[in-house]
Amino acid sequence: MRRKLAAGNWKMNGLGADLAELTALIAAHPGPACDMLICPPAPLIHRAAAVADGSALMIGAQDCHPAPHGAHTGDISVAMLADAGATHVIVGHSERRADHAESDATVRAKAEAAIAGGLLAIVCVGESLAEREAGRTLDVITAQLAGSLPADATALVVAYEPVWAIGTGKVATLEQIGAVHGHIRRHLTEHFGPAGQDVRVLYGGSVKAGNAAGIFGVPDVDGALVGGASLKTADFAPIVEALASA
Ligand code: PGA
Repeated sequence: MRRKLAAGNWKMNGLGADLAELTALIAAHPGPACDMLICPPAPLIHRAAAVADGSALMIGAQDCHPAPHGAHTGDISVAMLADAGATHVIVGHSERRADHAESDATVRAKAEAAIAGGLLAIVCVGESLAEREAGRTLDVITAQLAGSLPADATALVVAYEPVWAIGTGKVATLEQIGAVHGHIRRHLTEHFGPAGQDVRVLYGGSVKAGNAAGIFGVPDVDGALVGGASLKTADFAPIVEALASA
């Protein structure tokens, strides 16, 4: 049985004052029937983890470097994230793939490092609008999974995020989501065997309180990776509620 996961990605948003949103989220969901994760920007991880200490809220990071330490100015290792209180790390988000030219091989190396360092790795995949319109969605997802997934499935979460649905207000249809999630589930099972059944697959891309329940009703959707609607507890708490009662 896969425990559902509501994950928020604050991206490059949030200052210390915004940690009050986490306090409100914990108060709104003291014991949710699903996992609840917020990935704030790196400078807030330590303080966010202190706020979340002892609660049902988990704190994650948005990226990591694959190396354990060394001359990598501005980068952050998995051990540093864990030391700051993170339990999860997102790798291969489409904004990282685009803004920092991250390849599938880089994403895999980061996922391997995350898992080796005791974190859960949330590996993101998703097609562009041009790829979807060319009818290449499933081929693109297959190639990204083949190139980005780590060898070990035990601390792995996959997020399907169509690039054209991120931050645009455009949500994939339930049929589109179901087709890709079913495809990812088959790939995971072929690749990892029975362990692939335990990997959670999240949907991401303009998930909001108003569309969450429909998305969570799609087979093989084990939760959501939420950007904009995770910044305010008034927006995120209803998404957690929808998942907890899905
Ligand atoms: P969005 O972002 O919810 O703002 O569309 C999703 C994501 O990038 O994870």
